[in-house]
Amino acid sequence: MNERDLKACLDVVCKVALKAGDLMYANWRLPKQVNEVKQHDIKLALDVKCQELISSELKKFYPEFALFGEEGCEGATNAPYRWVVDPIDGTVNFVFEIPHACTSIALQKLDNQGVYQTILGVVYEPFCKEMWTATRDEVAMLNGKAIHSSERNTLEESVISVGFAKMQKNVNLSLEAMARLTSQVRKVRIMGSAALDLTYVATGRLDAYLEAGVRLWDIAAAGFILEKAGGHFGKTLLTGPTAEPESYKVDATNHWLAGKFNF
Ligand code: IPD
Ligand code: CA
Repeated sequence: MNERDLKACLDVVCKVALKAGDLMYANWRLPKQVNEVKQHDIKLALDVKCQELISSELKKFYPEFALFGEEGCEGATNAPYRWVVDPIDGTVNFVFEIPHACTSIALQKLDNQGVYQTILGVVYEPFCKEMWTATRDEVAMLNGKAIHSSERNTLEESVISVGFAKMQKNVNLSLEAMARLTSQVRKVRIMGSAALDLTYVATGRLDAYLEAGVRLWDIAAAGFILEKAGGHFGKTLLTGPTAEPESYKVDATNHWLAGKFNF
């Protein structure tokens, strides 16, 4: 995809994210149809409906692209391009009518080594109407204005977010980090949307975000946006018999705090 094609693609993806966000917003205060409840997770019929909308809209323009999404995958596993989609990130917030959730769409290209690399990221939060974007060829933006991660460079002055994923093993890793860091940083927050945690770091609202056990669809778009905003997107693939596929430990910070949280 050349620079012009990627720019046109960004335009398409923003429109699709806006549609998904509008659907989310329209359903915010309405009764919700729950598809599945687990100890640390709730899945809604609306998650599926939002992904179907995103998939069908993107297919109108890019029928040959594959899709790797929280609500299912489509197309070949080695397609030259694939979308990585989280239709509603922050579903539990949304269920409880807490207006902090978003739609996240990344575009990835298969490189010569057979590894997918993100070349475009869009995150749309429909409550404050905030659209974050970045492409390989353009800086990170919020509603069309360039953004940069914060300049705070000490733990004492930093405000960080810690996320709690779905498996107990990963919850424990986040708990350990929170117990250790709460007395060292200015404040700890638990926001409930990994994609928004990352875009908040990209925008300088937070200085860091730590979580073990996030999936690729939670972080692909927003992690890319953070990198394009000058931040550090540290991610380690979790492996072993109990690890979920494409799950990561994320240590995301501004440029100055990279590696300082020992997470
Ligand atoms: C979850 C949110 C949450 C994070 C979890 C994610 P979902 O995604 O991003 O903040 O802590 O790890 O799974 O289920 O709301 O799409
Ligand atoms: Ca998610």
